[in-house]
Amino acid sequence: KCAGLQIVCIGAGYVGGPTMAMIAYKCHDVTVTVVDISEKQIAAWNSDTLPIYEPGLDDIVKERRNKNLFFSTDVDGAVEKGDIIFVSVNTPTKTSGIGAGRAANISNCELVARNIAKVATSPKIVVEKSTVPVRTAESMGRVLAANEKGIKHQIISSPEFLAEGTAIEDLLEPSRVLIGGEQTPEGHAAVQKLVDVYEYWCPRERIITTNLWSSELSKLVANAFLAQRVSSINSISALCEVSGADVDEVARAVGTDYRIGKHFLKSSVGFGGSCFKKDILNLVYLCESFGLHDVAEYWNWVVKMNELQKERFAKTIVKRMFNTVTRKKIAVLGFAFKADTGDTRETAASDVCRFLLEEGARLSVYDPKVLAEDMERELLYAKCEKDQIDQQITRVEDVYAAAKDAHAVVILTEWKEFKELDFDKIYSVMEKPAFIFDGRNILDHAGLREKGFEVFALGKNKIN
Ligand code: NAD
Ligand code: UDX
Repeated sequence: KCAGLQIVCIGAGYVGGPTMAMIAYKCHDVTVTVVDISEKQIAAWNSDTLPIYEPGLDDIVKERRNKNLFFSTDVDGAVEKGDIIFVSVNTPTKTSGIGAGRAANISNCELVARNIAKVATSPKIVVEKSTVPVRTAESMGRVLAANEKGIKHQIISSPEFLAEGTAIEDLLEPSRVLIGGEQTPEGHAAVQKLVDVYEYWCPRERIITTNLWSSELSKLVANAFLAQRVSSINSISALCEVSGADVDEVARAVGTDYRIGKHFLKSSVGFGGSCFKKDILNLVYLCESFGLHDVAEYWNWVVKMNELQKERFAKTIVKRMFNTVTRKKIAVLGFAFKADTGDTRETAASDVCRFLLEEGARLSVYDPKVLAEDMERELLYAKCEKDQIDQQITRVEDVYAAAKDAHAVVILTEWKEFKELDFDKIYSVMEKPAFIFDGRNILDHAGLREKGFEVFALGKNKIN
């Protein structure tokens, strides 16, 4: 149905790259061009080392690149020839001005819309792929309509639900594809064009079509609900630690009720990632701007609970280690915000590290995928002092080097390889008592205690 269609995506990041690679992989008769203003980003997409790590992504990109998948910095050229133009630019939380710290900055989206209005000489279907506040399509639509050529572009919303680390799986078999459009014949026709693309591989019943505002809002709500589950179980982990209950047992018992469901109930040191906090704060800000202050406060607690969880975990480390970690070496295993990604944005690890640095600890950090520059940038973003980073943190390429002479091992990301470590060896090279703080509850705690470790696991404090 779509033979000869030209699809363009503006923004070649964690969403634009994999999403477009999947369309190219599934629709061989469609040409997909991904453009970005960052030359470095595009050069990486055209190289053997892609700019992001995502299991399965390399194979798909290598198979379709320069066949029907192209990466380029020629934004205007791509806009000119595109039939469908996805907008997949970053929409970070505003750092200054009105709504600073909560509202999403949608200036990249507006810039892109202005450019399309200026450059396009034929009608385009512009797809909001970025996560945006509800009613952003209204302003984007007005900017697109304000072109001097009298061209009528269509704006539709199709937020992305992929999660990092499982992006390829999620794109191959999406739980749903959401497409919202204007409730006019032209709007319906534009929505149908995108439905036709996704129908190459997604069953029609998984493609949900709605009005524009429902689509935009659903994305924020989906992330708020997911994060709320993590904050809910994390709040219960605190109660488990003082009551003798085991948070994993509680999660299992509760999640077996089909109305609740078993997924997303894993207690952790705190959720991270570029989306949850940003999108909830965006929702909070929206509620406030519509005068819904109680609703805003309800959702704000999901973020507050997450901050408390990180702090609670870091304080527990200090308390358990005889109330001082000053000058003690601590091995930090994992820095990414979750396993199977090198992404560090909003990772809980940076806040835990900041707390330990302030207490004077020396940190030896190991992560299999995180780049040194990303780690440093995230630590600075989390307000760690530059000289503390330089003097108190060492990044190592080997877990056993991290553990050597360490007083404690702290697990902050649930990398599978951490479950398979030689803990006898680790125990032998550590200072004694040798502490393990499992911020992801992935290790065999009973087995570790038998080896001699002092183990703290979230929501699993042993009370006899
Ligand atoms: P990203 O920062 O990885 O990528 C965004 C890219 O857009 C960057 O490479 C940047 O250079 C480019 N860009 C910015 N302005 C541009 C412009 N005017 N012209 C051309 N390129 C421009 O961001 P991301 O993680 O891919 O997220 C993109 C959007 O998708 C955000 O709104 C985010 O909330 C949403 N989202 C992200 C995820 C995720 O897992 N990362 C999942 C679902 C939705
Ligand atoms: C999230 C949404 O899941 C995805 O649908 C959306 O498109 C983008 O935002 P992402 O942030 O990539 O995806 O990862 P996700 O798997 O949702 O994990 C987010 C954070 O929650 C991670 O830090 C993860 O470790 C944490 N988490 C998740 C828990 O602590 N416990 C859980 O049970 C699940």
